[in-house]
Amino acid sequence: MKILCFGSLNIDYTYRVDHFVGKGETLSADSLQIFSGGKGLNQAIALVNAGADTYMAGSIGEDGLFLLKQLEAAGVHTEHVRVLTQERTGNAITQNDREGDNCILLYGGANRAITREQVDRVLADFLPGDYLILQNEINEMPYIMETAHARGLKVVLNPSPMEYCILEFPLEYVDYLILNEVEAVQLLREKIIRTGEELSIALQERFPGTAVVLTLGEQGSVYRDENEVIVQPVFSVQTVDTTAAGDTFTGFFIAGITRGQSVKEAMELAAKAAAIAVTRPGASPSIPLLSEVKENIFVL
Ligand code: RIB
Repeated sequence: MKILCFGSLNIDYTYRVDHFVGKGETLSADSLQIFSGGKGLNQAIALVNAGADTYMAGSIGEDGLFLLKQLEAAGVHTEHVRVLTQERTGNAITQNDREGDNCILLYGGANRAITREQVDRVLADFLPGDYLILQNEINEMPYIMETAHARGLKVVLNPSPMEYCILEFPLEYVDYLILNEVEAVQLLREKIIRTGEELSIALQERFPGTAVVLTLGEQGSVYRDENEVIVQPVFSVQTVDTTAAGDTFTGFFIAGITRGQSVKEAMELAAKAAAIAVTRPGASPSIPLLSEVKENIFVL
C-alpha cells in the first residue's frame, strides 16, 4: 500500500525570542535557524520515519531544492514534487519563545501554484486502497479530495491551518479527520466551551462515517469512530519546541494504522513520537525514527 502526502514544502526561518513580538514592537531575536518544514513535508518525513512507503506531491521553487534532497535522504519518493522556475518556495517565519511555544507567519509561494493537471497526473499513479494525506497549506484542496475519493483512495485530512473555507470542502469524503481542539471548535463553529470528550462526540455526529482523532495538548488525544473510543494520555517530557509535534503525531498514527496496528497501538505510537519531537528544536529535524520511539523510555 502506498501513502501519498500531497501538501506543502516550506523553508522554516525559526527565531528564538524572549516573547512573541507585539504590535508596533521591534524585538531582537536570540538566534536564527533555518529548517526544512511545511506540514506536508513534515508529515511525509514522519510517515517514512515510522516505516510507511511514502510519496510526496507538491511544488517548490528552485530555492527549495535542498528540501527534495532531505526527503530523498529520508527515503520519501519525490518524483511528484514539481520544481517551478517562476515561484519561490513557501516559507514560514516562526517565533519560538522561552516556554517552547511558537507562532508562525506563512508565505504560500509555490505551495499555492498546484494545478488540476498536476493533481490528475499524481493521482493516476495511485490505486484504490492507497492513502492520501492532506493538510491545508496548498490550493486545489476540494479537487484533490474529489479526485482521490473517485479513485478509491482513503482520504486523511488534517485541517491545519484551519480556515473557514474548509467548511466548503467535500468533507464527506474524509475517512480520517485528525485535528486539534482549536481547529475542532472552528470546524464545528462552536460558541460554547466543551470538554475534549464532548468535542469528539460532536465531531462524530457532524461527520458520521469518519474516524476522528482529536489532539488535546497536555490532555492527550481521543480517537472516536462508530465502534470504538480510545483515550491516549500525553507522555511527560521537557518541551523545547512544539513545532511539527502535530505533524509527527499524524504521520506516526497513519503509518501505524496502515501497517495493521490496532487504533490503540497506533495512538500510543503517535503520542510517543510526538513526545520526542517536542524535546528537539525545529520542524522536520525534530521528528524521530521508529527505532528511537521503540528504544525510548516514556513516563506518563
Ligand atoms: O506544523 C509545522 C509547520 O507549519 C512548520 O514546519 C511550518 O512550515 C508550517 O507550515
